[in-house]
Amino acid sequence: MSIASTPAWQSLQRHREALSSFRLDAALRDDPARARSWRFEAAGLEADLSRNLASAETWRLLLALADAAELPRWRDRLFAGAPINNTEGRPAWHTALRTAPANGAVARTVEQERLRMLDFAERLRAGQVRGATGKAIETVLCIGIGGSDLGPRLVTAALGETSGPIRLHFVSNIDPVELDLALAQAVPESTLIVAISKSFTTLETLENARAALAWLRQGAPGIDTRRHLAAITSQPERAQAFGVDASLVYTFAEWVGGRYSLWSACGLPIAVGHGAAAFNDLLHGAAALDHHFVEAPPARNLPLLLGLLGVWYVNFWGCRSRAVMPYAQRLRHLPAYLQQLEMESNGKRVDRDGRLLDYDTSPVVWGEAGTTAQHSVFQFLHQGTFFSPVDFVTAACFENSAEQRERLLYANALAQADALALGEAALKPSGSAKATCAVVPGDRPSTFITLPRIDAFSVGALLALYEHRTFVQGVLWQINSFDQWGVEIGKQLLKQRLAD
Ligand code: F6P
Repeated sequence: MSIASTPAWQSLQRHREALSSFRLDAALRDDPARARSWRFEAAGLEADLSRNLASAETWRLLLALADAAELPRWRDRLFAGAPINNTEGRPAWHTALRTAPANGAVARTVEQERLRMLDFAERLRAGQVRGATGKAIETVLCIGIGGSDLGPRLVTAALGETSGPIRLHFVSNIDPVELDLALAQAVPESTLIVAISKSFTTLETLENARAALAWLRQGAPGIDTRRHLAAITSQPERAQAFGVDASLVYTFAEWVGGRYSLWSACGLPIAVGHGAAAFNDLLHGAAALDHHFVEAPPARNLPLLLGLLGVWYVNFWGCRSRAVMPYAQRLRHLPAYLQQLEMESNGKRVDRDGRLLDYDTSPVVWGEAGTTAQHSVFQFLHQGTFFSPVDFVTAACFENSAEQRERLLYANALAQADALALGEAALKPSGSAKATCAVVPGDRPSTFITLPRIDAFSVGALLALYEHRTFVQGVLWQINSFDQWGVEIGKQLLKQRLAD
């Protein structure tokens, strides 16, 4: 049965109509406990949901919708490694990379490859990995795109200045500018090229790896490139055929989706930049969030509640976009990462059985770091003709930081969240009437997510939170969140065009 024809969905439609006169300022004023009781905690993260266009009745109805969609059964299938990626006939078992699965053999394979990758990362950091001329590797070029780039790039930047001697460069675009910039800062004899590609067929990654190899040969004629080329992939034979020495091929299973692969050997850049301990902390944070998702009761289950809110705004408020504003420069890559995670997962028009849908799915996800974004897109957020729910993501440690600018960063995020929710009602009465062009209507929802601090554990928890939020929405929309057939046609047409 289509979810849209369930009684739970229809009850929500009626409830939405009943909420036509709902005002956030009144909801917050009339229920002083709301700000406190709508705070949720998961794996050390905190989320304030009180500025959302919802009442206690909304939650009751949304939780009923989750039951109608059999969310608990699907969640159990996710964690059990059942083939929920039905169009590709395999599990989506990224959780097994951080929460040991019951299947001992899988758990052992995962751990063996993780230890192998972390050992390599620590040897690189210790200057023990040498190139063909005996020089220690000092520069690592991480060449990958999409899920083979966005996660590692986000986490490496989120954990701050890299520690250790290795300079890391991320290269994804086929536009030569990005690789050239990195090569201009590298020396062939002390450079390691790491080609990161699940399929090991992605044109941009293979072309950029070839260009880097050509640079290596030109800069160090006769050099044995096999000492300067590593790969991370689910297709080790293709990597070896490409010229990568088997001892420098790190693998992960086909049942790890590209956009869910940062927890696998694809996390090598994170471990090289910040050490094995940081990478393990990242996994521990995600595992703690996994535990919360499985164990927390629905009414306190944060990824479930955030997923339900996403469906509420898309399907009952007609929202076509969702903004993510990380109020932390170190999380500046979060919007780009979430664009792939959510839009490639849930940007679907047919259900799991291939039937065309008669309701909307993934919104456009966009965003920028705060406070920078305040001076470009917040005009639209406050006074545009349609609203875009906003996630503010920041760190609680900023609130009372010794650093004035960190305190201002946090205070700005709160001020913007209140301004969106309350509009003019947030301001002390001035007694003078404002011109209509200056009036800010308010009633614009946001969710305020705080990490205790921006460290590996909390970042791991945050990304797992968004993964499970994405999963919950996919289950409610009855779609397969783990395939991406829509990306193929562009690649096929390119091949055709190149052939022509
Ligand atoms: O084209 C989209 C995509 O297939 C993503 O799903 C994936 O993360 C990215 O390209 C890179 O793919 P690969 O890791 O196989 O090179």
